[in-house]
Amino acid sequence: MSFTELPKVELHLHLEGGAPPAFIAGLAKEKKLDISGIFKPDGSYDYRDFWHFLEVYEAATSTLQTPDDYKRLTLAVLEESAKNGVVYSETFISPDFCGGRDLGAWREYLHAIQEAADEAERTMGVTLRGIVTCIRHFGPEKAKETALCAAETAGDWLVGFGMAGDEKKGKPADFAYAFDMAREAGLGLTVHAGEWDGPDSVRDALDALRPARIGHGVAAWHDRHLVERLARENIVLEVCPGSNVFLGVYKQLHDHPIEKLRENGVAVTVSTDDPPFFHTTMTREFEQLNRVFGWNEEDFGYLAKEALDAAFCDDVTRAKIR
Ligand code: ADE
Ligand code: ZN
Repeated sequence: MSFTELPKVELHLHLEGGAPPAFIAGLAKEKKLDISGIFKPDGSYDYRDFWHFLEVYEAATSTLQTPDDYKRLTLAVLEESAKNGVVYSETFISPDFCGGRDLGAWREYLHAIQEAADEAERTMGVTLRGIVTCIRHFGPEKAKETALCAAETAGDWLVGFGMAGDEKKGKPADFAYAFDMAREAGLGLTVHAGEWDGPDSVRDALDALRPARIGHGVAAWHDRHLVERLARENIVLEVCPGSNVFLGVYKQLHDHPIEKLRENGVAVTVSTDDPPFFHTTMTREFEQLNRVFGWNEEDFGYLAKEALDAAFCDDVTRAKIR
């Protein structure tokens, strides 16, 4: 079976995290920035662990300095998505990196990203929507400014608000104001939790921020009551198995709880997170899930349906993709 052609829906993709390393190296050269320390001799990204990954991610992102850089980035990322059969994708974008949370600048970045998305939809057949993401380790005050940018630009294209970054920093409740602002603006909510921290981090995120989806959330598997709650409340997990294995959350895919979560009624979806950083693609995720858990074409069809149901886009867009 060729997994490349199967239609895929991806809900968890960081825009800068999708940047091919050669693209970032090219931008660095254009701008005469020395970030050679973030690459291995073979040109791939170089980092020791998750926390170092966050630093390398931010160093790579420092080369993206104008709306046009983001337009080029978006096209490069969507080219990869389209090559891998992705028909619909939601991407995390951060006003922290796009204009330093200045609303006027943010509008320009967003416009450029949307232009690229429109072009990719016409020429490559992949539909993109945006989720504004605050960065947890930048703190709650910056998250509020980020949420304001999100609320002011919420609409057909900007459909969600989320939080990424170091989940060991701060408490979810510190970010309640930002999430309340985004909820009032009608945005779908998602929070990274249960990637590095335990089940309590997922429970706290649900209680304090009331998201419809959790980014990763795999640590929930270690708490039976939480698994039951996720299933009962239909909380969707944006699971990124390749990312988890590459970063060492699990030693091998065989140990990953995605199959057990699914068997216990939790709505799981599959995404790549930061594909070139973790040497993965959506096709590779499917190949690995087939190899290790025997997921077949029917499973992948169901997976795409679940993901589209959980997408934050409007129903007209959803109906067009189906
Ligand atoms: N930012 C980019 N990738 C991330 C991840 N896997 N977890 C938290 N923050 C991130
Ligand atoms: Zn992520």
